[in-house]
Amino acid sequence: MTTAVALAVHIFGAVIWVGGMFAIYVCLRPALGTLDPPQRLRLMRVTFQKFFLWVWVAILLLLASGYWIVFMRFGGFAGAGLHIHLMQMTGWLMIALFVWLFHGPWLSFKRAVDSEDWPSAGAGLSRIRQIIAVNLPLGLLVVGSSFAGPMLIARSGTTIPMLPLVMAGILSRSPAPGAEAIGRWCGSITGASACNSRPTTLLSPGLRRANFC
Ligand code: HEM
Repeated sequence: MTTAVALAVHIFGAVIWVGGMFAIYVCLRPALGTLDPPQRLRLMRVTFQKFFLWVWVAILLLLASGYWIVFMRFGGFAGAGLHIHLMQMTGWLMIALFVWLFHGPWLSFKRAVDSEDWPSAGAGLSRIRQIIAVNLPLGLLVVGSSFAGPMLIARSGTTIPMLPLVMAGILSRSPAPGAEAIGRWCGSITGASACNSRPTTLLSPGLRRANFC
């Protein structure tokens, strides 16, 4: 597995997990008000059953690819930047909350729906909702800070947020449209010497020629 593939796998994991929570919490939840309680609870049972399976897959992808990058690219924890340590810490907090949600509220919610015990099912759903209400902002924070964090660190002169350009370069094997201009802009806010910690080997030859890292 190359670092590029590991990073892509890592991002798929994040998109599946955080995007799924966002769709359920922000879009599906308000729409549930149009249904009667038994229908609503049955719908959520089926939705969670499918989604939680994907969350397990996402967690496996995130952990395998994340630690692969830590060891194969950074040579271990000592070589990884502060944003990786924060991501890892928040990631494990999110995983712990999910494991708790899965083995506690989800299993009792599922049993209550199956036995048509609607008051208990309603209480279980509300506990699941509370845990997702914590995990969703944590996930958004990790995703947001994994892109913006390096840029903020770059302002103090250590690294530069190149992932979107790196991904575009990997996929196209040619300079991404506007890459040079963005590179100049990054250089202008960070100073050329701030670009050293990004893996230039990840970039396509065209992007390397763009010479912003
Ligand atoms: C739990 C253990 C985790 C580890 C060990 C880990 C490790 C890493 C590493 C090594 C990178 C590459 C960073 C770089 O290129 O500078 C990365 C990037 C990324 N991670 Fe994680 N990660 C973890 C959890 C998560 C979670 C839970 C999410 C989101 C839900 C997430 C989202 C991202 C994103 C969006 C990137 C791309 C940003 C970038 O490279 O600039 N990670 N992660």
